[in-house]
Amino acid sequence: MTTPSLLILPGDGIGPEVMGEVRKIIDWYGAKRDMPFDVTEDLVGGAAYDAHGVPLHDDTMAKAQEVDAVLLGAVGGPKYDDLDFSVKPERGLLRLRKEMDLFANLRPAQCFDALADFSSLKKDVVSGLDIMIVRELTSGVYFGEPRGIFQEGNERVGINTQRYTESEIDRVARAAFELARKRNNRVCSMEKANVMESGILWREVVTKVHAESYADVELSHMYADAGAMQLCRWPKQFDVILTDNLFGDILSDTAAMLTGSLGMLPSASLGAPMENGRPRALYEPVHGSAPDISGQGLANPIACILSFAMALRYSFDQGDEATRLEQAVEAVLASGARTADLMGPEGGTPMGTGAMGDAVIAALDASL
Ligand code: IPM
Ligand code: MG
Repeated sequence: MTTPSLLILPGDGIGPEVMGEVRKIIDWYGAKRDMPFDVTEDLVGGAAYDAHGVPLHDDTMAKAQEVDAVLLGAVGGPKYDDLDFSVKPERGLLRLRKEMDLFANLRPAQCFDALADFSSLKKDVVSGLDIMIVRELTSGVYFGEPRGIFQEGNERVGINTQRYTESEIDRVARAAFELARKRNNRVCSMEKANVMESGILWREVVTKVHAESYADVELSHMYADAGAMQLCRWPKQFDVILTDNLFGDILSDTAAMLTGSLGMLPSASLGAPMENGRPRALYEPVHGSAPDISGQGLANPIACILSFAMALRYSFDQGDEATRLEQAVEAVLASGARTADLMGPEGGTPMGTGAMGDAVIAALDASL
């Protein structure tokens, strides 16, 4: 077997800092588990704009298509706020998603026991929470045509188009049902079939895929606004939530915040299998570039580390090693280790990015 290849795109803000800790973890797997990775690093987002005048260079895009998995830190920052829309840092990420055709975005929202007090909800509402949002990532209003700002008579009109084909809904629905089978076997699909034709089609196709291929999985439907309300009321009713690109963007931020630990949540964006059988894949933390704390060594590297755990599970078929890494993170949190974002009102001295990474390495060593 050839050594699996990784393209690392640290990006902007705290991206490079948290990715530095992931590099330590990758090295640990090479040294201690005989699992070497062939790692290349490149630029994305504002960092790529500074170097090349575009948020993703064509050469980087080509590399991303060749490797077994891409790990991304974060993109964006106030420095780039006034750039033309077409070269904004976010466009680099959206190009990767679109051209790699990463249609299934997996966003787990898990409440770590040690952190249940950090949620804005009551502890019993969130403790033990473990849900998975499957967000369609390559279509919908993010990409639909027509789009733009046009002159219409004596004023301008801004247009975006929500558009879904049957096959786009079909493939992401299958991804959600497959995942549910490995979890608690329940899928709740969210759209707005009450006001949107695309929502009507979404519900029809999901229902059909279910009846044809996944009747063993429990399926329910909810309007996305009611879903947002239910997420805040009693999130533990959900197992897998299946939804479109824009609703998924919003619902996944809501779900993430319920856990009280935005700095802790990873994500995987998966596409169709490549020739070697591995899915096209990009892994990234759910949090952003956090310009307010970047460059100070304060960022929490756990979301990025857990994104690498997802890579081990979904790209490299190393579920046991993924669990080892997740348990190492849990052990570190249980021991009371906290970065600044995890400091409660009782205060204390937070540890820095590097110290948190080292603590995870120590916990990995202890797991052997
Ligand atoms: C996300 C982000 C992105 C999105 C931005 C950075 C383009 O909010 O991954 O949720 O809107 O999809
Ligand atoms: Mg978002």
